[in-house]
Amino acid sequence: MSIEEILSKDTLSRDDIAQLLSAESPEEVEILRRKAYETMLENVGDKVYLRGLIEFSNYCVNDCYYCGIRRSNSNTERYILSVEQVIEAAKLAAEFDYGSVVLQSGDRRDNQFIDYVISCIKGIKEATRSEKYPEGLGITLCVGEQTEETYRKFFEAGAHRYLLRIETTNPDLFSKIHPQEQRLEARIEALNALKQVGFQVGTGVMIGLPGQTLDDLADDVLFFRNMDVDMIGMGPYLPHNDTPMGKQYETTEEIKQWRFNLSLKMIAICRILLKDVNIASTTALQTIHPTGREEGLRYGANVIMPQITPTEYRKNYMLYEDKPCVSEFAAECHSCMQMRIASVGRSIAYGVWGDPLHFRNKQRN
Ligand code: 5AD
Repeated sequence: MSIEEILSKDTLSRDDIAQLLSAESPEEVEILRRKAYETMLENVGDKVYLRGLIEFSNYCVNDCYYCGIRRSNSNTERYILSVEQVIEAAKLAAEFDYGSVVLQSGDRRDNQFIDYVISCIKGIKEATRSEKYPEGLGITLCVGEQTEETYRKFFEAGAHRYLLRIETTNPDLFSKIHPQEQRLEARIEALNALKQVGFQVGTGVMIGLPGQTLDDLADDVLFFRNMDVDMIGMGPYLPHNDTPMGKQYETTEEIKQWRFNLSLKMIAICRILLKDVNIASTTALQTIHPTGREEGLRYGANVIMPQITPTEYRKNYMLYEDKPCVSEFAAECHSCMQMRIASVGRSIAYGVWGDPLHFRNKQRN
């Protein structure tokens, strides 16, 4: 079947999705991209939503075999921002009119950490409340697997979105890239708990993992749909030399380029299938290609997360090598982002939370 024929079907099967992912010729990929872009315009419009990204701590109890801030990496200098520093960064986001912030860190589940996150949420809400933001900035959390009770505390403190990547839905692959104590089922349970509590929920995967097949990625997309998630954040797998996977597999430029192209196709397919969700164009794309995040927008993404982490800490939040934007200041990232978004003919929705329409549409039904 041709790409056009697949795209004209009402429902796409696993095989259909895998075939779309296998499209290589520029003509076929352009047909896919165009369909995704049209679907985006029809369902969520052309505006880009911004979330100021605050990577507030790199302490982590997990030991993921791919991640540069895994607990066993003793070459990483560990840090945690003070609550005041987090609030200052959020105030900057309000000043830039981003509307929302994302608080991201390594996984920790101790009470001290939970109380700290709650203080940050409450502090940000209080410090950013204004005529323009009567309820303060929107807050997305990305602080890993927690109990339902903890999720409820975070929600009650004022956070309303949560990102928790599933990383891959293939159980064998999941267990190859994580130590035994990290379980795929636990992630799925956590995602269900987040939905139960009332969060707008986002998930995502790494693309081009060693051993990952196109069928796996097709299953991932179907998983996003079955879980009825509101947001997607995903990007290419990138090596980090201080990790078991970074050491084990050689990554050529050609492989990186392949992962990059595959990631763009994944964004397009998610847009076509999931329609009214928010999809982030992630930093990992820009690591492979200088205009990677702009490309993500062209393939149907509608969210970008400009860095507002205080500059001196950014170099210690290296999930993978060559992460961009580590020596810039927030104001530079701000103007750079405006330029990048304008360069692909899109405009920024300033001063709004930018909730995923999918969440609202779900509640209406
Ligand atoms: N390459 C790409 N993405 C990575 N992440 C962690 N390490 C890497 C890597 N080496 C992603 C994971 C995690 C998110 C915060 O960063 O998907 O969920």
